[in-house]
Amino acid sequence: MYSEKVMDHFQNPRNVGEIPDANAVGTVGNAKCGDIMKIYMKIDENKVITDIKFKTFGCGAAIATSSMATELVKGKTVEEALELTNKAVVEALDGLPPAKLHCSVLAEEAIHAAIEDYCQRNRIPFQGKKCEGCCSSCHNHE
Ligand code: FES
Repeated sequence: MYSEKVMDHFQNPRNVGEIPDANAVGTVGNAKCGDIMKIYMKIDENKVITDIKFKTFGCGAAIATSSMATELVKGKTVEEALELTNKAVVEALDGLPPAKLHCSVLAEEAIHAAIEDYCQRNRIPFQGKKCEGCCSSCHNHE
């Protein structure tokens, strides 16, 4: 039911953890299941994401999609990262069962929330999507 790539990223997730001196942090909740995701980024002066890590209270599909999403945006600019959709992440994993597609939204929204945080800290207008599934632990839109 899960592709080999999903199983690989679930069993050996990349970029798990925290970045203590991150300059962009995003936390979002999944409106559908209540699971939570936190993304930490280090963004350099050229707006390149030089490091990224995630922590999630999500399911296996959330772990696999976050692992793949962090791999895809590492080394990219903020603008490029904002173009990454959950659909592209799912495609990179060779698909997800339809019932688990909502899990992949968590990574996309957390990336957007972290970049929004970076924009706020640096007084740059935010061009991405506002996260919609905020749970009570989301502090990005207070
Ligand atoms: Fe909540 Fe997958 S069931 S993220």
